Amino acid sequence: MSLDGKVAVVSAAGAGIGAATAALLARSGCTVVGVDLDGDALDEQRRALGDGDRGGAFHPVVADVSDAESVQAAIDEAVRLGGRIDVLANIAGGSRPGQDMVELDPAEWDRLVQVNLTSVFLMCRAVIPVMRTGGGGSIVNVSSGAGLRGMHRNPAYVAAKAGVVALTRAMALDHGPEGIRTNCVAPGPVATPLMRRNRTPQQIEMLARDVSVLGRLGEPEELAEVIVWLADDASSYVLGQTIEVDGGVASVV
Ligand SMILES: NC(=O)c1ccc[n+]([C@@H]2O[C@H](COP(=O)([O-])OP(=O)(O)OC[C@H]3O[C@@H](n4cnc5c(N)ncnc54)[C@H](O)[C@@H]3O)[C@@H](O)[C@H]2O)c1
Repeated sequence: MSLDGKVAVVSAAGAGIGAATAALLARSGCTVVGVDLDGDALDEQRRALGDGDRGGAFHPVVADVSDAESVQAAIDEAVRLGGRIDVLANIAGGSRPGQDMVELDPAEWDRLVQVNLTSVFLMCRAVIPVMRTGGGGSIVNVSSGAGLRGMHRNPAYVAAKAGVVALTRAMALDHGPEGIRTNCVAPGPVATPLMRRNRTPQQIEMLARDVSVLGRLGEPEELAEVIVWLADDASSYVLGQTIEVDGGVASVV
């Protein structure tokens, strides 16, 4: 791995896929700046990873990635802590399905687009100038199978996550030539706090059985492996791609 000694910023580093990605990047030798709304979860993550004794150091930064000022402050802090940024993993996002277009309040539409799509724009906008100064970098955005295939009663999330796929391609075109690779991972159902918040144990069991060919949920660590591969120079000729990590989509007909 070429990640040893690099500096990575990971959003949603307090839980789920973000926490697993931050841990794997730290084990790969990165200094990790973990950004999350939840300061307690970040502190727990820091305790779990140690002060660099189990890989690169982990620095918690509490911020809301859907807010422009909060993002700029977090990235300024990341540069202060790490001196540079080589990797950005935009993992924060989520939703609670249950409303169709007509039922969805416009304010909730705005909030979901802000958290799932605008957050990616804001983080990249703040980080790209730093990566430029450092001679390049790798950005990995997290979309969802919902952004590619749709999802019942979750229109804002579906649209926002489709936007993340499109934004990934736009960024690859604009910033690939300056050495900044952007790619995307679209998870299927993964065993995280988000999944446990949104579904009953019975629904989770059904989802695991029916949605993926493997007949089980993914583990956050299985997503982290692909995100970290995209972050690493091992994937140096991969650009603008969205990789589905979903255990294989079972036929829905
Ligand atoms: N779990 C799944 O089945 C699944 C499937 C497809 C896509 N995804 C996507 O993967 C990503 C991670 O999902 P997860 O299941 O690990 O989520 P999770 O809810 O389990 O964890 C998300 C973390 O992000 C943080 N967070 C939320 N909003 C934030 C904000 N505005 N600013 C900073 N931090 C914020 C939370 O505090 C939490 O620690 C999300 O973008 C989600 O949409 C998840």
